Amino acid sequence: MSDHLPYHSATDVGPVEEAEPLDRWVSEDGKREAFAHDFASTLSLSREFDRCDVLYVEPPFPHGWKVFHERAGIEPQVPYKEFFYWVTRALADSDKPAAMLCTTDTRVQLNAVPPTYSHRSALLTAARPCVMLWYNLVPPKEFKTNTELIQWMASEFDCIGDFAAGYGYTGRLFSEAGKGWVLSDLDPRCIGYIAANSEEWA
Ligand SMILES: C[S@@+](CC[C@H](N)C(=O)[O-])C[C@H]1O[C@@H](n2cnc3c(N)ncnc32)[C@H](O)[C@@H]1O
Repeated sequence: MSDHLPYHSATDVGPVEEAEPLDRWVSEDGKREAFAHDFASTLSLSREFDRCDVLYVEPPFPHGWKVFHERAGIEPQVPYKEFFYWVTRALADSDKPAAMLCTTDTRVQLNAVPPTYSHRSALLTAARPCVMLWYNLVPPKEFKTNTELIQWMASEFDCIGDFAAGYGYTGRLFSEAGKGWVLSDLDPRCIGYIAANSEEWA
């Protein structure tokens, strides 16, 4: 297993530059798949996520909205606040246990569908403060980082769905636990990265 833990950030330039764009990838056993999809083009979860029993997402922060779209060469389909609302709507309406790590900006939070539970001191891998929102589940304890949270999910659930998956850190932690995943992202180069690297994660 590689020690390199890339994270698709709006502030760092990562190996996405090196990845070939790809529309879709499915593992040989069908347990893991990744595909390019602009969530804002449908504002709802794709059918591929139906088979997941838990959902998780780290949507772009407000400042990253423009950066990620420029990087992918795709025009934003809706204003950021609308995107944020529909992300929380999709999680809440899925009826699946779901969590997201998002901005601490309370002006943005006001656009969220009220969560089951929220926790304000969570940290991303990159040690940025953020808020953890939970839908359809009250977490059994407070998680300090995204890694702790996703590893707990991997111990409890079989297949995770993440529709802003970047380089696929969510999938990586589920692979390490022998579990399945469905990942999508706006940027086809993220899918190329996942396709080129995910067989090494298990
Ligand atoms: C904070 S990063 C998530 C990083 C990810 N957890 C990882 O392991 O690299 C947010 C991701 O949202 C994606 N994104 C931005 N706008 C999107 C949209 N409209 N639909 C789907 N994904 C989007 C970006 O390309 C980026 O990969």
